[in-house]
Amino acid sequence: MALIAPSILTADFLQLGDELRRAQGADIWHLDIMDGHFVPNLTFGPLLCAAVAKASNVPVECHLMVERPQDLLARYAEAGAKRLIVHAETTAHLHRLVGEVHALGCQAGVALNPGTPLAAIEEVRDELDLLLVMTVDPGFGGQSFLRGQIDKIRRARQLLPDALIEVDGGIGPNTAPDVVQAGADVLVAGSAVFAPGADPAERIKEIRRSLHESP
Ligand code: DX5
Ligand code: ZN
Repeated sequence: MALIAPSILTADFLQLGDELRRAQGADIWHLDIMDGHFVPNLTFGPLLCAAVAKASNVPVECHLMVERPQDLLARYAEAGAKRLIVHAETTAHLHRLVGEVHALGCQAGVALNPGTPLAAIEEVRDELDLLLVMTVDPGFGGQSFLRGQIDKIRRARQLLPDALIEVDGGIGPNTAPDVVQAGADVLVAGSAVFAPGADPAERIKEIRRSLHESP
């Protein structure tokens, strides 16, 4: 069964506690940490991560879209994140970075932008708990799913039979079946779950229904 990881990026931040409580059925909270440098958008930091981790029993993962992630890992680990996902494009020392995540007691994930080949993680594949295949260019919620990445998900599944494969960007009931078919285990969904006027629990159920899974 696929895991659903709602991204809170499009949630109502003034009502965040309520939004989280209403999103029944979430398996993981996906926090999009953006620094305005690696990506052209700026979001939130460890304080919000700590607040989310405290407010809920659902585990938190941080998707670090930041330059120099090595400077920030400990902050997010202390803030209660169970998994830290770094971008391969941000470092010349991916092996060291993954080791640093594990040394902090967190699961280690590596994310690849759509333009980054799978070969970027080939030499560290045995160290990874999760590979995040971006299905949009990171920076903003609500972008269109890049269908060209489906083949990469398929190849990732073969290259990493034991790690989780996660997908992020443009995932909803219309795209979830194809990525799961290609081998994805964890589906990040932002605007498909949190949207003005929407019932997040119902939106999660719709994604599960699209996969023919009972809610
Ligand atoms: C993209 C972020 C995603 C994004 C997903 O930069 O990493 O997690 O918020 O949002 P949707 O599901 O709306 O594409
Ligand atoms: Zn993300």
